[in-house]
Amino acid sequence: MRFGHFDDENKEYVIQTPKTPYPWINYLGSEEFFGLVSNQSGGYCFYRDAKLRRLTRYRYNNVPCDDGGRYFYVKEGDTVWNPSWGPVKTDLDEYECRHGLGYSRITGKKNGLSVSTLFFVPVGKTCEVHSVTLKNESKSAKTFQLYSFVEWCLWNAEDDMTNFQRNFSTGEVEILGGGQTIYHKTEFKERRNHYAFYHVNSKVAGYDTDRETFLGLYNGFHEPQVVFAGESRNSKAAGWSPVASQCVAVTLQPGEEKTLVWVLGYIEVPKDQKWESKGVINKKPAEAMIALLDSKEKVDAELGKLKAYWNALLTGYSVKSTDERLDRMVNIWNQYQCMVTFNMSRSASFFESGIGRGMGFRDSNQDLLGFVHLIPERARERILDIAATQFEDGSAYHQYQPLTKRGNNAVGSGFNDDPLWLILGVAAYIKESGDFAILDEQVPFDNDESKSKSLLEHCKRSFDHVINNMGPNGLPLIGRADWNDCLNLNCFSETPGESFQTTENREGRTAESIFIAGMFVSIGPMYADMCERRGDKAEAERVRAEVAKMEKAVLDKGWDGEWFLRAYDFFGKKVGSKDNKEGKIFIEPQGYCVMAGIGAKTGHAQKALDSVKEYLDCDYGIVLNNPAFTEYVLEYGEISTYPAGYKENAGIFCHNNPWIMIAETVIGRPERAWEYYRKICPAYLEDISDLHRTEPYVYAQMIAGKDAVKPGEAKNSWLTGTGSWNFVAISQYLLGVRPEWDGLLVQPCMTKEVPEYTVVRRARGATYTISVKNSGKAGPARLTVDGKAVTGNLVPYAAAGSNVKVVCEV
Ligand code: GLC
Ligand code: GLC
Repeated sequence: MRFGHFDDENKEYVIQTPKTPYPWINYLGSEEFFGLVSNQSGGYCFYRDAKLRRLTRYRYNNVPCDDGGRYFYVKEGDTVWNPSWGPVKTDLDEYECRHGLGYSRITGKKNGLSVSTLFFVPVGKTCEVHSVTLKNESKSAKTFQLYSFVEWCLWNAEDDMTNFQRNFSTGEVEILGGGQTIYHKTEFKERRNHYAFYHVNSKVAGYDTDRETFLGLYNGFHEPQVVFAGESRNSKAAGWSPVASQCVAVTLQPGEEKTLVWVLGYIEVPKDQKWESKGVINKKPAEAMIALLDSKEKVDAELGKLKAYWNALLTGYSVKSTDERLDRMVNIWNQYQCMVTFNMSRSASFFESGIGRGMGFRDSNQDLLGFVHLIPERARERILDIAATQFEDGSAYHQYQPLTKRGNNAVGSGFNDDPLWLILGVAAYIKESGDFAILDEQVPFDNDESKSKSLLEHCKRSFDHVINNMGPNGLPLIGRADWNDCLNLNCFSETPGESFQTTENREGRTAESIFIAGMFVSIGPMYADMCERRGDKAEAERVRAEVAKMEKAVLDKGWDGEWFLRAYDFFGKKVGSKDNKEGKIFIEPQGYCVMAGIGAKTGHAQKALDSVKEYLDCDYGIVLNNPAFTEYVLEYGEISTYPAGYKENAGIFCHNNPWIMIAETVIGRPERAWEYYRKICPAYLEDISDLHRTEPYVYAQMIAGKDAVKPGEAKNSWLTGTGSWNFVAISQYLLGVRPEWDGLLVQPCMTKEVPEYTVVRRARGATYTISVKNSGKAGPARLTVDGKAVTGNLVPYAAAGSNVKVVCEV
């Protein structure tokens, strides 16, 4: 069952009912100011850090769900309604929500009145615009009131939810222009140099800034007493919960239309210019921001800029094929999700509260992969931030806070896959940009400038960290966990609530990861290539020898007969083996070892992927392990805590499915790769939205697996490495256009269902138009470049500004 449809022309998803199977959200903003907005206009906004600089309040895990947002209430006669349906939930005559790239438009109609609100963050500004267009579509004049409403968060989102003894007494506001602008200035007097405001470009009939007055102490957002009474109380918040609500009285003649513009802004002022006069905040910067956005015309122009911004970004990679679902995922939604994930890491979604986690070392490096072609300069900056949280021995803080860029001590380090992801991120960036100079950047260890070394040296330390931490079988030690955060082989936790990731109850130097070994063989050569290109042949040779040794160790000690083992545990026993009772086979090593090419010539790779098909594949994707764990295994940790079929215990963890897609292309099996691609790709799941539940335009982290109570049900949409990896799989390996050190590699491995397609790829300033005739066979591609046949499948990088025509036949 569907709840909407794609509008590819406008790059929008159009939701036709407010009652989606879960709130279907969108993100506003892409640089500093961010907002989350659901199809019922729920959500919140923040400046840079979702925990420390939260502007508006949101209630997670509330009943009903999706509680708190930017609400507009209409009162016409005795009828009170929201154009977003909720929170009042008065039946609407018509409803539509359009989620576009960086903006959302929610329209509700009732009794001949249409109210359409456009939400977006203008490019380069630190505010949200809420532009409300009112239209009288009836035959008689209409007089009604429109009330706005946002609830302020007292900046630190965690403290805001817990420290009530203080917070109920700190709230302060200033009110200007009879309520036209409401300033939120809690804690400004003391240590904050920032405030927020909510402004409307119209005279107001009244306002409220105190939540209790506006709603009524025992009322929810669905029954604001002020709105039902039809009169603002002009309340002034003192402590408790400051809010901002304005009431505008409107009369519209038949057919008349009017747009009111609200701006929800964030302002920072220099420390010595905080005050206009004693106790009165400096409003100059706020007024300047408002002046740029105080009319419909200015807002339309800003929306135009936002659309142009996205249109330009998306010219980096696009495909035109015979499959519209493929095209819309590749051209629009998958890339959009990559941008959002790059910005948010795993901080703020409707499944991540914005207070729990900072930027992940492994997560952010992988998020780069699908983002780097959009804005390479930002990827560069991110790499340097990430690398600065590495330690001198090559290990790394697992997470860091975006506002301070400091490593997170509470989580610490010891995730032994982390270091290698840095090499992968750096390689992806250089291949995209050609900027080898980044390797010379001096980057601190542990943010200590006195301990700075070149980025290339950081990569070396990453590589050597694996070599310096080998176990008894000559395979990498796993540490606290590798990519699978829930495989905690040194944890042995028997204490409720103890963190599986940060507790190490036994100091072990036995537990080894075949997954990290696969990574090492796949990613190590990228570091060798970098060394070679810097003229360090000896180092490149050393690296290649180590990689060869590891490859041999995987085949000797990491092979179980029909698939790759997952690990050796604390006691040196096999994990992910036919000898195990549960968890006999795991997806991760099959994916990464075959991506590394291990066993491609000996048949191990084919066998491993056939085993994936046989034991892990199901209707909704490839599950993580099989059989699922049904008991807690003390020596395995969190993985065995989840009920069977969920999350890391045999859920379809969508992040690692593309590793199998890529692996299938490595051994030349396009149909399998395609089947796996389609299975988890949201646009192909639109018809089962009632089961799938999360947005049909973005990937979710997890879909319940075959052992679950409800197979096919997804959770945790938006912020997941799934976005990047699926983009890498489809764009670089199936459609087959991949940036390499010296050129674009063109090697399609695409289903015969798509017999021809054209990819337009921008790289290093040049544009490549690549027309593919596809037999569906996985043969070597035959290429002509600007009419000339070439040998091999590398299209050398052309000068910036040039247009290169490539014809490819497979
Ligand atoms: C989550 C984490 C990621 C981890 C994955 C598997 O997505 O963000 O770091 O690799 O779970 O455990
Ligand atoms: C939990 C989640 C996993 C995540 C980890 C770290 O273990 O299951 O997906 O990566 O927490 O926060």
